[in-house]
Amino acid sequence: MNTAISDIKIKKIAQSRIHEVDFDNIKFGREFSDHMFTMEYKDGTWQNLEIKPYQNLSFSPAMSALHYGQSIFEGLKAYRKGDDVFMFRAKDNFARMNRSAHRMCIPEIPEELVHHALKQLLTIDANWVPGGEESSLYIRPFLFATDEYVGIKPSATYKFIIFTCPVGSYYTEPLKVKVETEYTRAAQGGVGEAKCAGNYAASLYPAKQAQENGYHQLVWTDGKEHKYIEESGTMNIMFIIGNKLISPNLSGAILPGITRNSVLTLAKDWGYEVEERPVTVDEIIKAAQTGELKEAFGAGTAATIAQIALIGHEGIDYKLPAIETREFSNRVYDFLNNLKRGNETDKWGWIEKI
Ligand code: COI
Repeated sequence: MNTAISDIKIKKIAQSRIHEVDFDNIKFGREFSDHMFTMEYKDGTWQNLEIKPYQNLSFSPAMSALHYGQSIFEGLKAYRKGDDVFMFRAKDNFARMNRSAHRMCIPEIPEELVHHALKQLLTIDANWVPGGEESSLYIRPFLFATDEYVGIKPSATYKFIIFTCPVGSYYTEPLKVKVETEYTRAAQGGVGEAKCAGNYAASLYPAKQAQENGYHQLVWTDGKEHKYIEESGTMNIMFIIGNKLISPNLSGAILPGITRNSVLTLAKDWGYEVEERPVTVDEIIKAAQTGELKEAFGAGTAATIAQIALIGHEGIDYKLPAIETREFSNRVYDFLNNLKRGNETDKWGWIEKI
């Protein structure tokens, strides 16, 4: 059976909840818009496409995603400028979701159809897209195994959902990060480049320990030697040393971030020298000691560009240059903010008006 766009059933909420939300004080991920999109996979095909009021789900306690973690997700955002709503690089998110699906033995989603469904969802919930400079509508597509079966095998049934939430900043201050040299986020040959739920669960315990010691997040290093830097918290990581932008290359253990790709693309366009390569902890610490490390920041959808104020390594904290001196990351932050709201020329085809 070939599911078509016209097959999306729409059931609207009787009474919007939007008036319950304080849009001047939005926290990240606590408020949910009126509607969600759902579809199911069974008998070898995606079916039952619906946009309906945001609501709880009901499942068997034996649902396999809960036990074995066949569960993947994406994160992207929509932005407002006046009456216009824009989406940023949605196609890239759905393409990445299918790469994650492949790695996790999950059936691929029909990218065009889901993209269209998202546009319809955003049209219906357009009033939920906040207008403030630091605000946006966070879009959470996710896909998980629903077989009622406790044996271990790829599920035969799945559910795909998109809900959205108006959000403010993810981080409210520049980050203090600690280089993690005991635990690992991902190993070569593992699932580090897939956006799967388990990667985030595995990060919680080491992150909690760092937080108890006064840091906000970790700098993840490779699983073999803890010699190479991979990511920071839930973000990709980048450095400016001298006049070069340096970022760990996509080794297989690193999430291929869409913000990461946008930042690298802009840097090249602006004439910066860009190096994507293995980055050692040693070179970053040395550059911090000599003052050559001018900037360090995380790049991710939720956090956008998150400045790193301090890096802790082997019991020593290295304070990095003041945020206002950081030419590249401030420029890229401002540019992306403007571009996403239709205030810059989009020569890359990243912006889509809803
Ligand atoms: C995102 O940046 O979209 C993420 O996946 C981070 C999330 C854990 C909030």
